[in-house]
Amino acid sequence: MRRPLIVANWKMHKSRAEAREYAETLLAALATAPTGEIELAIAPPFTALETLAGVLTGSPVALAGQNVSSMAEGAFTGEVSVSMLKDLGCRYCIVGHSERRAQHGETSADVAAKAAALLKEGLRPIICVGETQAQREAGQTEKIVAEQLAASLPAMSTPTAGEVVVAYEPIWAIGTGVTATPEQAQEVQAFLRVCLNKILGEGADRVRLQYGGSVGPDSIRSLMNQPDIDGALIGSAALDARTLETILANIQLENTSP
Ligand code: 13P
Repeated sequence: MRRPLIVANWKMHKSRAEAREYAETLLAALATAPTGEIELAIAPPFTALETLAGVLTGSPVALAGQNVSSMAEGAFTGEVSVSMLKDLGCRYCIVGHSERRAQHGETSADVAAKAAALLKEGLRPIICVGETQAQREAGQTEKIVAEQLAASLPAMSTPTAGEVVVAYEPIWAIGTGVTATPEQAQEVQAFLRVCLNKILGEGADRVRLQYGGSVGPDSIRSLMNQPDIDGALIGSAALDARTLETILANIQLENTSP
């Protein structure tokens, strides 16, 4: 049984004061409506991690980085190491988001090195893959995500596979308001599970597969109902604590309905 995982990716949003207010609002809501089986994490900009840690430490809400260096330390201006994220209490870190691949030239080999560095220190990588609109229209979706997955996964043992999360984020669905249909997302995610099986063998069933791309309160239930969607990586909709609460409540509604 894979535990559902919802991650709020704030991208480059929020001051420390805004981060604090968000976390306090969220915790107040969770006090009356707990997340139950759902695991929840927030990935703020690095500058808000310490503030969030101050509010969220000891709560059910985990912290995540949005990126990390694969290097341990040294002359790497502008970079942040795994041990620095660990020091701030992060449990997860997103790697290989399409915005980093496209805007910062990150390759799948870079992503695999970052994921390996995270696993070595006991942090869980959230490895992102996804195709562009043009690639989908050219019928290349499976080819693209299979190549990205194979080259972005670090070498790992079967038990370690449970520490790895893969997020399928079709680029055409990110920030566009166009969510993949549950069937479209499931089709690719089932394919990713087959790829994982070939690469990892029995460990593949332990890897959690998230969907990301314009997820909101109205789409979350039908997405999470799909057998290979174990959670969501949410951008814009999760910038508002109350919308995130609604998303969590809607998942649970579905889980408890007959
Ligand atoms: P949106 O939810 O804003 O489409 O962003 C998705 C995303 O990129 C999460 O990492």
